[in-house]
Amino acid sequence: MKEPAKVKVLIAGGRGRVGSKVADLLESRGVEVVSGGLDDGVDYIEGTRVAEVLEGVDTIVNVLNTNRFDEEGAVSFFDGTTRALTAAGEEAGVRHHILLSIVGVGDEDGSDIGYYLAKVAQERALKAGSIPYTVVRSTQFQSYVPVLADQHTVDGKVLAPRDLIQPVELDELAALLVEVTLSGGPLGDVEIAGPERFHMDDLLRGTLAATGDPRDVVTVESLGAEDAMVPRGEYHVGKTLYPIRDIPLAS
Ligand SMILES: NC(=O)c1ccc[n+]([C@@H]2O[C@H](COP(=O)([O-])OP(=O)(O)OC[C@H]3O[C@@H](n4cnc5c(N)ncnc54)[C@H](OP(=O)(O)O)[C@@H]3O)[C@@H](O)[C@H]2O)c1
Repeated sequence: MKEPAKVKVLIAGGRGRVGSKVADLLESRGVEVVSGGLDDGVDYIEGTRVAEVLEGVDTIVNVLNTNRFDEEGAVSFFDGTTRALTAAGEEAGVRHHILLSIVGVGDEDGSDIGYYLAKVAQERALKAGSIPYTVVRSTQFQSYVPVLADQHTVDGKVLAPRDLIQPVELDELAALLVEVTLSGGPLGDVEIAGPERFHMDDLLRGTLAATGDPRDVVTVESLGAEDAMVPRGEYHVGKTLYPIRDIPLAS
């Protein structure tokens, strides 16, 4: 992809898991990076320092996150912060807004979990604005699989459907966000997933067993389409295999 002469990037959430990696990679490529997160004194809900951090910025990389998983809390966060960034970005003359989303959230049969509905609302808020955008949709990070097990735990048992899941290595996602940033964009919708596809119950069972976690994984009926959270069209394929090697692959 073509590298523009000079670019200044605001990473909204620049000290988070994804944001800090993207910041380091962009800086190593000579890009001027501004971090805009709570630790930087920036709050997109309260409107604190937003115009200030956007001064002279060409590109926003929006990797904000919330620990609210309920629909009301998550929608209010993702919709509110994205609208605030878009409005302030339009004022500041931003040319490209890159949003990190999740594979499957944009499809009509995607999950109705509150957090995923909030990511749908976030994509809509981005697209309602006038800044040219790229939505980078990633599957679950490989390092996130143990958290997924916790989220599916009820009364000490992990309740997991046989839905398909194709986790990606976080560094490969960060590298893609950097390439999208340096391309100058906009690229529309871009997806990335890991090289291997599993059933979620097998993945959680194998991961817990390998880490000595005694929780049972119980296979439960899927609430939606089995392939709702894996790419259905073209996508970037990560190279890094899942670190636990004896888990059956989905055919
Ligand atoms: N986990 C997965 O498997 C997965 C898969 C696909 C996509 N994603 C997406 O990846 C994105 C980033 O996730 P992450 O794990 O990197 O998140 P994270 O580590 O929790 O980082 C979130 C960032 O948001 C900032 N922030 C939160 N509220 C803010 C506010 N009101 N104003 C300004 N900044 C605020 C935080 O600031 P401080 O650092 O100062 O607290 C932090 O820098 C999320 O949008 C998530 O949906 C995740």
